[in-house]
Amino acid sequence: MKSLIVNTSQKYEIIIRHGGLNQAGEYIREITKAQRALIVSDSNIAPLYADILEDSLKKSGFLTSVFVFEAGEQSKTLSTVEKIYTHLAENRFTRSDIVVALGGGVTGDMAGYASATYMRGIDFVNIPTSLLSQVDSSVGGKTGVDLPSGKNLVGAFWQPKLVLIDPDTLSTLPAHFISDGMGEVIKYGCIKSESLFEICNAEIQDFDDIIYKCVDIKRQIVENDERERGERMLLNFGHTLGHGLEKLHNYSGLSHGAAVGIGMVMMAQAGEKAGLTKQGTA
Ligand SMILES: NC(=O)c1ccc[n+]([C@@H]2O[C@H](COP(=O)([O-])OP(=O)(O)OC[C@H]3O[C@@H](n4cnc5c(N)ncnc54)[C@H](O)[C@@H]3O)[C@@H](O)[C@H]2O)c1
Ligand SMILES: [Zn+2]
Repeated sequence: MKSLIVNTSQKYEIIIRHGGLNQAGEYIREITKAQRALIVSDSNIAPLYADILEDSLKKSGFLTSVFVFEAGEQSKTLSTVEKIYTHLAENRFTRSDIVVALGGGVTGDMAGYASATYMRGIDFVNIPTSLLSQVDSSVGGKTGVDLPSGKNLVGAFWQPKLVLIDPDTLSTLPAHFISDGMGEVIKYGCIKSESLFEICNAEIQDFDDIIYKCVDIKRQIVENDERERGERMLLNFGHTLGHGLEKLHNYSGLSHGAAVGIGMVMMAQAGEKAGLTKQGTA
């Protein structure tokens, strides 16, 4: 097991532990007195892992309910968030209860945003299950949804109370999404760590090591610049063009990590052309 503390406006722990999902209830009980816990998950992940999480939460004394949405970026909208609010209200969730996101970046961003805004903010825990969300999106407190006019246009900074990463969940992640998550890993290599960039070239990937290195870099950057007024913008390398490409593909043809990968190459090419970037970088 590995653990890191993120020292933002709200301090929280990132736990990286194989099989950690089975102990989620105990970990979450340590950080809240909540009576009720809502699990938010998508239609691919819920059938695989929601029962394990729900059993663990029940053992730790939580009254649980589960909200499942159709998997995919197309669901990351205000209309899904409204359904989460309705579920919370109908199940009488109060401000002292908790939301637990179980899934990839889409789940975490959307459940986080619903938590930031329901009753002006309730606690949430992030249990990321995709490589992209384990190395990147689960840490740092950026939550939000897309509008038809663009990605992540509505959102809030809302830090989780706990991030619980169980690398075992990657065993069911389709290979395409492993490559996709590597888009963000390569980004971390490019912006902060030559050794991490080199690891990406290895034949066999040690994901425990990769996850730890990426979240540690993100932790440091977010601690220095929680609200993205300076250094945190580094994390957006490849994203300006990447987001444009995702929109061009109607948020379905091209996944986020792949779009960021293409965006980084295009930015490096532009940098080379302008004489700002060393030739051959792209
Ligand atoms: N908040 C941030 O700081 C931040 C950073 C980077 C990206 N993001 C956002 O994250 C989103 C992309 O995240 P993503 O790639 O995780 O998307 P995602 O949540 O859609 O997950 C990708 C796919 O993998 C499936 N999946 C996830 N975990 C699985 C598992 N363990 N087993 C089987 N299937 C699994 C999902 O159902 C989905 O089909 C984008 O919306 C992006 O804007 C946010
Ligand atoms: Zn990203």
